Amino acid sequence: MINRAVISPSLMCADIADIKEMLAIFAETGVGYLHIDVMDGVFVPNYALGTDYVKKLRRLTDIPLDIHMMVVQPEQKIAWFDPQPSDIVSVHCESTHDIRAAVENIRAAGAHPSVAVSPATHYQAVECVLDEIEAVLVMTVTPGHAGQTMLKSSPAKISGLRRWLDAAGYARVRIIADGNISPTNAAILRDAGANIFVAGSSGVFVEGCGLKEAVIKLTEAIGA
Ligand code: DX5
Ligand code: ZN
Repeated sequence: MINRAVISPSLMCADIADIKEMLAIFAETGVGYLHIDVMDGVFVPNYALGTDYVKKLRRLTDIPLDIHMMVVQPEQKIAWFDPQPSDIVSVHCESTHDIRAAVENIRAAGAHPSVAVSPATHYQAVECVLDEIEAVLVMTVTPGHAGQTMLKSSPAKISGLRRWLDAAGYARVRIIADGNISPTNAAILRDAGANIFVAGSSGVFVEGCGLKEAVIKLTEAIGA
């Protein structure tokens, strides 16, 4: 996985009325992934996108998916989403007793494994699977809902993670930043070391701003 900065629009925030037009804009503006939030109402108090949505979405676009599993026992559910070789699948280290099995199942499905850490979890929690993963997803808000405000601790957490990864010889591991990724916050987190920017209600699906305009603005903010 290369380390250039890319945008991953969070489709739980999208207006489904014009999904084909939305996907055409994302293809034209070169977003790197489509972020798919999966929630089970247990690990987080909400539901979001599901297996049928992903199946239908795959018929409409070739843009790879960045599947964010906020579910308990994710190791048993990864295959439900039919991961593809260019997809990233992130599982929360707080959501399973067997994070290694979850990471191995993502690898076995042919996708790029990533481990997500919630705000209260130290990034060194991923140490036990560092040799197997290709990204760390850092939640910059509490997982479960869009429209929140980035936690003040996020830039330092991401820069600490970047330094730790580089010092341990894992410069290849990318950092996904997820939550309230506005252009202003994205520029700060880019400087801190983030590579993939999950863009929802503050990133690309912004009230009063055209989709293409918002993607271009965010792309400029991350220097992509
Ligand atoms: C929240 C999700 C995020 C969210 C981003 O649990 O993981 O992907 O949809 O939305 P905003 O940009 O509104 O924070
Ligand atoms: Zn997410």
